[in-house]
Amino acid sequence: MVKSGIWGAGLGLALLAIGSSAQAAGDPAAGEKVFARCAACHKVGSDAKAGFGPVLNGVVGAKAASSPGYAYSPAMKAAKLVWTPATLDKYLTGPAKMVPGTKMAFPGVPDAKDRANVIAYLGRFNAKGQKK
Ligand code: HEC
Repeated sequence: MVKSGIWGAGLGLALLAIGSSAQAAGDPAAGEKVFARCAACHKVGSDAKAGFGPVLNGVVGAKAASSPGYAYSPAMKAAKLVWTPATLDKYLTGPAKMVPGTKMAFPGVPDAKDRANVIAYLGRFNAKGQKK
């Protein structure tokens, strides 16, 4: 009786841990669909070119405003940010709130899960646009 109770609680915790870590890491396949909202301005992949926005290859782990050949706003250049999943999450919640003066004219992604998923999708591309 006592044993099965402990076993049950342990299993519950283990499932909880799996569930929450999967959500925190995001789902790249679902993120590819979210990226449709970004694709008017941003490209990823080995043949990606800057458009209205910079190429986002290798952006997870990169310094802000470091995509070669793109004319960033003075605000983004001065932001001195490193794009981690946490800073990206904050930026994508409200770009102009985090970086006032950014020229990314985009209201943000309101849903936390959508943000985690699109960040996971971006995390798949290295700086050359190859999928990891
Ligand atoms: C209307 C066009 C537009 C849309 C839509 C858009 N962006 Fe942007 N984004 C920009 C521009 C322009 C910049 C450059 C900002 C600056 O220099 O201030 C930028 C910058 C960024 C940066 C910083 C890049 C760097 O090199 O520092 C990230 C990350 C980013 N966008 C992610 C996204 C994601 C993810 C989406 C979709 C959820 C998205 N953007 C949607 C135009 C857009």
